Amino acid sequence: MTASDAPVVIVTGASRGLGYTIAEKLLAISAKVVIVARSEAGMAKLAEQYPGHVEYVTGDLGDYETGVKAVQTAINKFGSLSGIVFNAAVISPVSTIATTDIEAFKKLFDVNFFSIITTLKAAIPYLRESKGKVVLVSSEASYESHFYGWEAYGSSKACVNHLAATLAGEEPDIFAISVDPGVMDSAMQQEIREQHGTQMKGAHHEYLVKIKEDGTIPSTEPPAIVISNLVVKGPMELSGTYYAFNSPALSPYSTA
Ligand SMILES: NC(=O)c1ccc[n+]([C@@H]2O[C@H](COP(=O)([O-])OP(=O)(O)OC[C@H]3O[C@@H](n4cnc5c(N)ncnc54)[C@H](OP(=O)(O)O)[C@@H]3O)[C@@H](O)[C@H]2O)c1
Repeated sequence: MTASDAPVVIVTGASRGLGYTIAEKLLAISAKVVIVARSEAGMAKLAEQYPGHVEYVTGDLGDYETGVKAVQTAINKFGSLSGIVFNAAVISPVSTIATTDIEAFKKLFDVNFFSIITTLKAAIPYLRESKGKVVLVSSEASYESHFYGWEAYGSSKACVNHLAATLAGEEPDIFAISVDPGVMDSAMQQEIREQHGTQMKGAHHEYLVKIKEDGTIPSTEPPAIVISNLVVKGPMELSGTYYAFNSPALSPYSTA
């Protein structure tokens, strides 16, 4: 791959966890990445490790200008935009409908959903030009009602699934897919274990604590490989769909 045909990909939420691993996978194939998060340390580390291949935008995606800045950075620094992985998300507030704080609910939607729309609005002209690819990181909680207390998070992910289908329908030259990465060992899971036990059903919380304690909680590696492959070579016949990362339809994308 020559420098000029290297993919140029925005990855949101790449300071740690799944987003960080996705950025690493893309950098391993010599892609140029623009990474976005509020905390700088993890992103600065990647920029130092891969000089000339990483630009980072430090900011809160709840401020819609942050995503727009990421698009401008890709164009100004790397000259094009071939893909976006919308990975950043938060799980809080965890509560029932009867007890929810609607302002906290709306703030979650700003990060998990509305920031995707405002970023896409800025990116679509460039993605049309590059016949670009968009991967939206979803969750099983987008359709499973047994994730008691995760109503804000789960409904934002249901919107993400719908958005992938809508984007694919509206933009025939842009590939869009929504992918559930499964449970992974990350800061989000740590927050769930440590802060949300009382708002969740006991069995679900106990399961998440147990898989950490017994060491069976999966790593971010396998879904990061699938997602990094999809944002570079996702096939149009899968555009508009939602899949778990380990479903047979995505198995051709499961090796680095
Ligand atoms: N972990 C799981 O078991 C699991 C299961 C299914 C789906 N997922 C999904 O997988 C994706 C990655 O999750 P993860 O487990 O890797 O979570 P994580 O470790 O908490 O990482 C989340 C990333 O998003 C960034 N972020 C959060 N809020 C932000 C904001 N307001 N503005 C900008 N960046 C923000 C964080 O960086 P800063 O804090 O530095 O901003 C971090 O880089 C999410 O979409 C999540 O819903 C996770």
